[in-house]
Amino acid sequence: MTLLVTGGAGFIGSNFIRDWLVSHDERIVNLDKLTYAGNPDNLEGLPDNRHTFVRGDIGDRALVADLLARYAPRAVIHFAAESHVDRSIEGPGAFIETNVNGTLNLLEASRDHWSQLAGRSREAFRFVHVSTDEVYGSLAPDAPAFAEDHPFAPNSPYAASKAASDHLARAWHHTYGMPVLTTHCSNNYGPHHFPEKLIPLVIVNALAGKSLPIYGDGQQVRDWLYVGDHCSAIRRVLEAGAPGQTYNIGGWNEMRNIDIVRTVCELLDEMRPRPDGQAYASQITFVKDRPGHDRRYAVDARKIATELGWRPAETFASGIRRTVRWYLDNPQWVARAQSGDYLDWVTRQYANRRAATGSAPASLHQAAPSRATAQAAREEVTA
Ligand code: NAD
Ligand code: DAU
Repeated sequence: MTLLVTGGAGFIGSNFIRDWLVSHDERIVNLDKLTYAGNPDNLEGLPDNRHTFVRGDIGDRALVADLLARYAPRAVIHFAAESHVDRSIEGPGAFIETNVNGTLNLLEASRDHWSQLAGRSREAFRFVHVSTDEVYGSLAPDAPAFAEDHPFAPNSPYAASKAASDHLARAWHHTYGMPVLTTHCSNNYGPHHFPEKLIPLVIVNALAGKSLPIYGDGQQVRDWLYVGDHCSAIRRVLEAGAPGQTYNIGGWNEMRNIDIVRTVCELLDEMRPRPDGQAYASQITFVKDRPGHDRRYAVDARKIATELGWRPAETFASGIRRTVRWYLDNPQWVARAQSGDYLDWVTRQYANRRAATGSAPASLHQAAPSRATAQAAREEVTA
């Protein structure tokens, strides 16, 4: 038996594959384009006989059809996406291309494959579409958390592209009867998180003596979930979820950005004190806000708890400690992740953000292997 996983070289996909191979016998075929966010280092140490990596685009119909025909997976777990909100504001095109057109292609190829199946294989086939809580928009401070029937109101180009893909997934079930299940998860954190997102960015900048940029007033609220818990929820949805249903996944852990950053700083003060004895929090810098910045997300995860019996295993205190420890123990991963396109992106993203208070944000660059080194590493894995 085989699963086809898309985007498995990224943050959540690689965590999913690692956890899956520990707890299941089934093989995984991992289709990933290796964009700047797809990191072959995330796949290091996976057993070759049960993990097959294919570098390619979910938008490549012939390739996807070939993989489906060759490996006859019993399920597609679809993680591949452009995932960073700030990048979507600067350049929405790639988000539409991958998140919308790519998902369309994957749905169509999977429908062809599924419609040729018969009997038990046809009944058992599943397409799990991994989406986000951002499709629901922003909540007022005292509004109830997003339930599955909350209307869509995506605010960023990223969220809009994910919402569009969710509508496609829903329609493919409604019209063609395809066994599609969609998940809407809140903010993840954990090992292998690309250091453009808040938590890993703060860890690596703090250690490098650089500024910790907080957008606007830092009072925005997110609902944080340890990545391993997101992966266990997806396994549960695959195992027991009902086709056509959507499931919210969340950590019941709403926190303000400023408190997240302070927590990370306090952990670093304890685990890797600054040589000068100063607190890492002194590196916090308030910078210009993200355009259209959503104020609050909160996920009502009661449906997946009551219907499928899933609950998160980590508390925020345990998960964030594990996460900070992982970054302290893996400086090489960080250095390599910060090579190539990452450098160009950070230059563009932060160059014009003048500090609203405090000192101007320093360049977030860090000494890292050259583009050529990073490219060589990629070819090696995909050869
Ligand atoms: P990520 O950016 O770390 O990884 C995305 C992966 O997809 C990368 O390996 C990239 O190379 C690959 N990819 C991009 N375009 C591709 C294409 N056209 N063809 C094949 N592969 C392609 O993202 P992530 O944080 O791991 O998120 C994974 C999924 O989970 C996304 O669909 C995202 O919307 C969703 N999600 C993320 C979070 C979060 O907090 N990170 C929360 C909820 C939902
Ligand atoms: O809610 C789920 C979503 O969570 C996923 O769908 C997205 O793929 C994922 O990137 C994440 O989106 P966010 O925009 O919430 O994550 P990010 O880490 O970019 O930002 C978290 C919060 O921190 C957000 O309010 C913006 C703020 N922020 C972010 C960065 C990068 C800062 O204040 N400073 C920063 O430098």
